[in-house]
Amino acid sequence: MSKTVFIETLGCAMNERDTEHMIAELNAKEDYVQTDDSRTADLIIINTCSVRERPVHKLFSELGSFNKYKKLGAKIGVTGCTASHLGRDIIKRAPYVDFVLGARNVSKISEIIHKPKAVEIDIDYDESQFAFKEFRGSVNKAFVNISIGCDKACTFCIVPKTRGDEISIPTDLILQECERATEAGAKEIFLLGQNVNNYGRRFSGDHEKVNFTELLRRISKIDTVKRIRFTSPHPFHMDDEFLEEFAKNDKICKSMHMPLQSGSSAILKMMKRGYTKEWFLNRAKKLREMVPNVSISTDIIVAFPGETQEDFEETIDVMREVRFDQVFSFKYSPRPLTEAAEMTNEVEAEVGSERLAYLQGFQNSVTDEITNGHLGKTFEVFFEEKRDGGFIAGRSDNNILIKVEADESLLGSFAKVKVIKTGRMSQIGEIIA
Ligand code: SAH
Ligand code: F3S
Repeated sequence: MSKTVFIETLGCAMNERDTEHMIAELNAKEDYVQTDDSRTADLIIINTCSVRERPVHKLFSELGSFNKYKKLGAKIGVTGCTASHLGRDIIKRAPYVDFVLGARNVSKISEIIHKPKAVEIDIDYDESQFAFKEFRGSVNKAFVNISIGCDKACTFCIVPKTRGDEISIPTDLILQECERATEAGAKEIFLLGQNVNNYGRRFSGDHEKVNFTELLRRISKIDTVKRIRFTSPHPFHMDDEFLEEFAKNDKICKSMHMPLQSGSSAILKMMKRGYTKEWFLNRAKKLREMVPNVSISTDIIVAFPGETQEDFEETIDVMREVRFDQVFSFKYSPRPLTEAAEMTNEVEAEVGSERLAYLQGFQNSVTDEITNGHLGKTFEVFFEEKRDGGFIAGRSDNNILIKVEADESLLGSFAKVKVIKTGRMSQIGEIIA
C-alpha cells in the first residue's frame, strides 16, 4: 500500500509549484500519495515562506503541534525559504524534525527523506534543467516555472538569499511543459518566477538569446494554450517591446501585477528598486492607454526605514493616479540577511500601523468604485474552482473573480457571464452564453 504525505504550503505561487514538484517526485520515486490528514500521514512537510516575520514564529508552534499529533514513526520535514534561511537551526530548535530542504533543492526530496537529520540548503544548486515528474493540483490551470532565484537586491527582501541567483529554465523545457499540461486538459498557463520579465538573463548551459517577450510569443503559438498569465514582472523591466506584446497578443490575459513597493522616489532608491515614481507612472499610463480594460494589481510596503509622512503621501498619490484594481499591502518587516535590516531610522510601529490602515481604507473605496462599475457588464470567464454554496468560480481575462450558481460540469470551460451582484472580493454573475 502507498505511503501518504501531507504538505502544508505557505507563501507564494512558486511555493505551490514546489509543493507539486515534491509530490510528483515522491509519488514517482517513492510511492507516496498526497493526503490532507496530517494525523495519519507517514510524512509531514511544511513548505515555508520567509518574506515577512510572522510565518517564522508560526512555523515552530505548528511544528510542535504536528509532532504531538502525528502518527507513530511519521517523519517531519521543513522545506522552502525558511528552511534555506535557518538551516540546521531548525533541527536545533525542534530536534524531532527529520530533515531540512531549501527552496532551491526541491529536486532532492526523494533522497533526503532517507537521510536522518539531513540539511540541504545550497543556494548555488542548479535545478534549472531538472526534469521533474508530473503532478498538478488543478487540471484546469497549470503553473510553469520559467526561472529560479532572483538577481535583484531589493534591500528589504530576503528572497535572493533563500532562492539564490537567477537562472532561467531552458526555453525548450518550458515549451514542452506548456504543451504537456495543456494536452492533458489545462487551458491556462501561469508562468512563474520572482522576476519573470528578466527571463533570459542567464542560462546554465549554452542557450540562444530568448527574452521574456519572445518566450511569451513562442508559448502563445502552442494551439492548446488558450490563456497565459504570469507573476511577477518587475516594473523596471517593462520596456515598450514587452508592453506592446502584452497588448496585442490575444492569449495573454489582460491583467498585470506591477509591484510598486513605494511611491516615493527617495524610498525607492533606498529600496534599490531601480525605478522612480515617474517611471512607474509612465509605465502604468502607457499600459492603460494600450490596453484600456487592463487590470493592474500591486504590492506596497509601508513604513520602510526613513519613510516620512510626505513619502507615504506620494504612495497614496500613485494609488490615486493609477487606481489599482487590487493592492497587496504590508507593513515593513525587517528580515535577516537584508541590507534594510541594518538601517537604524525605523518608523515607529504605531505610525506604520496607522499608515497601513489608512492605505487599506483608501484602496477599499477605490476597489468598491471599480467593482460597482462591473454591474451589468459581460465578461468571458474561465471556470476553475468549486466554491461553497453551490457556486463555481472563475476569472475574466482581466482577472475579475466571478462566481455563478452551477454544477461541476462547468469546471474547465469558458462562458460569457453577466455580473448581477458586485462585492469587494468576488462578483456574482449569470451565464448568458
Ligand atoms: N519578486 C517577488 C517578490 C516576493 S516578495 C514577487 O514579485 O512576487 C512579495 C512581496 O512581499 C513583495 O512584493 C513585497 O511587497 C513584500 N515584502 C517583501 N519583503 C518584505 C519585507 N521585508 N517586509 C514587508 N513586506 C515585504
Ligand atoms: Fe525580492 Fe526584489 Fe527579487 S522583491 S524577489 S529581491 S525583485
